[in-house]
Amino acid sequence: MVGLKMLSRRQALSGSAALIGTLASGALAMGRAKAAPGFHGSQRVPYGSCVAFGPLQNEPDYRGALTAYCQQLTPEWGFNWDYVQPAPSQFNFDFADSVLAFAQANDMTMRGHALVWYASLPDWAKDIRGAAEAESALTSHVETLVSRYRGKVKTWHVVNEPLEDPKGGSAASLRQSVWMQNLGEKYIDRAFHLAHQADPAAELLINEYGIESLDEGSTPKRQALLKLVKDLLGRGVPLHGIGLQGHLLDKYEIDTSGTHDFVSEIRSLGLSVHITELDVVDDSLPGAIPARDAVVAARAYDFLDAVFAAARPSMVGTWGITDRHTWVPMYHKRADGLINRPLPLDDHYRPTPLWSVINYFCQQIA
Ligand code: XIL
Repeated sequence: MVGLKMLSRRQALSGSAALIGTLASGALAMGRAKAAPGFHGSQRVPYGSCVAFGPLQNEPDYRGALTAYCQQLTPEWGFNWDYVQPAPSQFNFDFADSVLAFAQANDMTMRGHALVWYASLPDWAKDIRGAAEAESALTSHVETLVSRYRGKVKTWHVVNEPLEDPKGGSAASLRQSVWMQNLGEKYIDRAFHLAHQADPAAELLINEYGIESLDEGSTPKRQALLKLVKDLLGRGVPLHGIGLQGHLLDKYEIDTSGTHDFVSEIRSLGLSVHITELDVVDDSLPGAIPARDAVVAARAYDFLDAVFAAARPSMVGTWGITDRHTWVPMYHKRADGLINRPLPLDDHYRPTPLWSVINYFCQQIA
């Protein structure tokens, strides 16, 4: 789809040691080029990663990788309700503040993930009953976070994962949550209006996964997401863009035309498109690393190719930068005991072919 094919899909798939060597050395050079003047040139699509708190504090190699490769950072769980507001009147900003300070010191920006989510709730929030209580909790949470980081966090994932996973070809409906139970669909409108009031300049996104594969769920989920977006825009909700998480699956090919057409339609509605949590689940692939890395790279290539052919994304982010610190094994541990390789740097911070794919797309000139 994309005209420029310096790195073809076939090359990404080939998995030859020589190719991987070439790609890796190019990527290393790219990583080192971070310090060169002009690297932050406006034409490059920013690349970013989420940041885990412990490694940020304790591991120089981890900090070095973030500064070498990233232009944007996202606290991995620093804004999750159970971390940031463990009790109704207690807020913990240490994690987000550390990431912000690190980002600012290294000429990077920080994104906010996520203001409203069905998951990662503390018990007090799970126990919310009734519209008044839900409204009050939502208001204080969104107002407190967004106004505290006004002008510093320029992009917020306002509502994370609002849709159910469709089963058996059924339509995707809005996901049940404490917010849906107590406020209905309008919880989404409310969250966006509150965030917009607290920082009128912030870019406000819905962030969702599972729209890009040739599996049973992606087509109905795309349809439901488009309907939700159109409903929100029709109601005048200040929604500015869509985050495609991009947790790609080894088991399924990418639905390139479905993804392309979806992104085109989102763009035609005037919304920005962000890739927010890219990684490739690799637990059902054979263990041999070159072949495994090649499939991981190919999945990402097909996804990014489809997205970039439809719209230049505002950023490409991965959910972690190194296989040393990734959420993938929490849910998709490999049966053979080998470590998962879902991310652009391996567990020794060596760039993998996935990095070369990401870098190839990010450096394309608009
Ligand atoms: C994962 C994180 O990596 C964990 O650290 C967190 O506590 C729970 O979930 N979609 C999301 C992310 O939006 O917040 C999830 O992150 C991965 C799936």
